[in-house]
Amino acid sequence: MVGREEYSHIFVRQITLNLHMNPQFPKNEWWKPANEGGFFGNNYILGDEWYDRYLNDRLMTRKNRIFRETSGISDIVKRHQLNGLFLFCPCGNGRLLNSFKMINSKLIGIDLNFNYLYHANKTKQKNVLSLINSDMRYLPFKDNVFSMIANMWTSFGYFSQHEDNVHLLKEWYRILNQNGLVIIHSNINPIQVGHWDGGRRQKRITLSNGGILEITETFDVRNEKIWGVWEFVGKQKTEYNQYAITVWSIEKWKAVAQKIGYEIVNILGSIQDIDKSLSMEDEECVILLQKR
Ligand SMILES: C[S@@+](CC[C@H](N)C(=O)[O-])C[C@H]1O[C@@H](n2cnc3c(N)ncnc32)[C@H](O)[C@@H]1O
Repeated sequence: MVGREEYSHIFVRQITLNLHMNPQFPKNEWWKPANEGGFFGNNYILGDEWYDRYLNDRLMTRKNRIFRETSGISDIVKRHQLNGLFLFCPCGNGRLLNSFKMINSKLIGIDLNFNYLYHANKTKQKNVLSLINSDMRYLPFKDNVFSMIANMWTSFGYFSQHEDNVHLLKEWYRILNQNGLVIIHSNINPIQVGHWDGGRRQKRITLSNGGILEITETFDVRNEKIWGVWEFVGKQKTEYNQYAITVWSIEKWKAVAQKIGYEIVNILGSIQDIDKSLSMEDEECVILLQKR
């Protein structure tokens, strides 16, 4: 952790970890770092370095995507006149955090994966106050300190227990100040998933190292979950990484968010167009929740 002492007005003194985990089902914790048997390691970074097939026929490099997403966050922040302290939760390897430059904003990043944070720290910008290695369900911050929280690139719905996903939303609510905003961005469209052909979608992606990544996702309607497999087809061997992401319907999002106290400001179909509400054909979903 970087610089916690200087920011005693933000952090609580002690972090109490009381994780809701079931040791009998390690698969439930697929979201852990790869060195603990989870999904997020070098393969994820390699798979993220793709050069085609994102947003249908548009060719987009990783750099293009970063620019597109940080510009989208900036547009939302400007529209809602937010400034002050922003949290990237989770921040991964800092790809967005370290490219996000807005005057009058200070940033904090949090992630469970120490190796990703180590990388983020190497490219850290001046406006980044702190990088924190922690489980996002248990945020070491005081109440009412952030103006904006960015949850980007399909980073919500990871927990197998419904209460844990709801708890994360409650934690964000707690640490946001009045009129503070949460941006939950995903490349899964909840309106589309129920209409996938045979309940599945498959993609074949060319990676920057010339390898192939095959992604197969199956939507389980009853459990509101996508079961996903990333298959790396390399020269020598094939590697598999698996995940399970809860995908709530729009109705469920509204019910859960409103119960916590959020106002649903909008549900967008693209991070690039902050006036376009979500519809069936969109490849992204951006949920904007505001603390009132
Ligand atoms: C799909 S990546 C996206 C990262 C980042 N939002 C971005 O756009 O680059 C998801 C990230 O969530 C982190 N993560 C998974 N479970 C977590 C948890 N319980 N607490 C904090 N971070 C977690 C992973 O380590 C990974 O960096």
